[in-house]
Amino acid sequence: MKKTTNQALVIFGASGDLTYRKLIPAVFDLYMNGSLPEGYAVLGVSRTDLTDNQFRKKMKEGIKLFAHYKNAVTEKIHDFLSMLHYLSIDTGKGEEYIHVKEKLNSLNRKLNLGQNYIFYLSTPPSLYTSIPKYLYGQGLTLQQKGFRRIIIEKPFGHDLLSAIELNEQLQEFFSEDQIYRIDHYLGKETVQNLMVTRFANGIYEPLWNRNFIQHVEITAAESIGVEDRGGYYDHSGALRDMVQNHLLQVLSLVAMEPPAKISPEEIRYEKMKVFRSLRPFSKNDLKKNVIRGQYTDATVRGKQYNGYRDERNVDKHSRTETYVAMKIFIDNWRWQGVPFYIRTGKRLPTNVTEVVIHFKPSPQRLFKSADDSGNSDNQLILRIQPDEGILLKTGMKVPGSGYEVKSVNMDFHYTELNDHYIPSAYERLILDCMTGDNMLYMSSEAAEETWKFVQPVLNYWENDKEAPLHGYPSGSWGPDVADDLIEGKENTWRYPCKNLAEDGVYCEL
Ligand code: BG6
Repeated sequence: MKKTTNQALVIFGASGDLTYRKLIPAVFDLYMNGSLPEGYAVLGVSRTDLTDNQFRKKMKEGIKLFAHYKNAVTEKIHDFLSMLHYLSIDTGKGEEYIHVKEKLNSLNRKLNLGQNYIFYLSTPPSLYTSIPKYLYGQGLTLQQKGFRRIIIEKPFGHDLLSAIELNEQLQEFFSEDQIYRIDHYLGKETVQNLMVTRFANGIYEPLWNRNFIQHVEITAAESIGVEDRGGYYDHSGALRDMVQNHLLQVLSLVAMEPPAKISPEEIRYEKMKVFRSLRPFSKNDLKKNVIRGQYTDATVRGKQYNGYRDERNVDKHSRTETYVAMKIFIDNWRWQGVPFYIRTGKRLPTNVTEVVIHFKPSPQRLFKSADDSGNSDNQLILRIQPDEGILLKTGMKVPGSGYEVKSVNMDFHYTELNDHYIPSAYERLILDCMTGDNMLYMSSEAAEETWKFVQPVLNYWENDKEAPLHGYPSGSWGPDVADDLIEGKENTWRYPCKNLAEDGVYCEL
């Protein structure tokens, strides 16, 4: 287990949803796992007027709903809650940050925190540059006594230019090694397992290239709509919300070269090479290889779902995409000519994130196929969530006379591990930051390079009034045209279900 030194976590935007649903439950789970140091404090900072007790009460609710150890005994929860403190300031006013400093000084004296502080920005992005400046103004960014680190939530910028500006502004007050740009997908156990599957197994790596792989599919499907986030989402859309960050990060782990060793520098270096090798979209590619969609209303199994434009805080004429599918090429030695298909969307039939490696068929089709699955479509499915695991689809002889081939599954599910405990992404990432390990955080270059790749798509959608936006009924797998992206008559997207080993067009919504 990683050893942590005494420290405090200062959360800006502490009265918000992320703190309640993800951050505090994750810190609580760290506490339950014995990963917190002896001297530890969380200081929640926000505009909302709350006392320590009110803050603790609300966080207790969050723990009870969202923590892995939600059923922990009351004393444990209370012990943990006593580490939480709250400060209400106007976070937009520099002169108020003296109170943050004073509060930290007092906690430091009481708890011997070694002046080690992590600042977590979970505020609206408009504050991402002013908070660092105000912390700097109070001398809170200088690492003379303890460490000072800053975690920046996504979205990291709104486009390429704003991401570059944000990097520059942050770097005025923090050095690059103090800055932790979070992408919670990288904290997922199963996303890290992509690297282990590839580089710890002699059998996969020799096949992992253009000679044996026909195409790669990455899907992040969600059955929820935009819920109460319409205000944010309508200015973001699926490309900014999921593709520029989560999906491209997953893609980089699938496509990267083996690192010289497992270290933040080496891994970031290899991932950057993938980002730099992404083939820029030509005008023609933008029209042919990028599909956007928006969900429309539908009744699914008797339940009525609103269309996107009828969601709260969404423009009635919005052209924001809630679905994106694209065909991407990586121009390097390993992947030349292999299409990577990625898709993500809201209000799809199920909640599933997975990577599907489609291997090339055997050189000659000697046998007849017993079903529609094709007799040699070997697929390796790396399931990120839910029902985390790995599935290999392989052709097998149907018992009896003749030689008919049927596709069968060989599957492993994480739940089969006796001591299986999958830490939440935030638990893992906060712990890494506590120990100064930034391997699973995004570098400044990666943030910019990924924006650079998606920027032409954003420009095309913004500037070309003819750029199509396809409606798709809630509960469907997105616009039909997305099927045409996939090369080869016999190839389609996989239609996954919640259960890894099942696939089918209809799952739960
Ligand atoms: C967030 C997006 O970053 O990721 C959300 O803003 C999305 O729109 C979420 O729902 C998906 O995360 P997960 O961990 O549930 O797959």
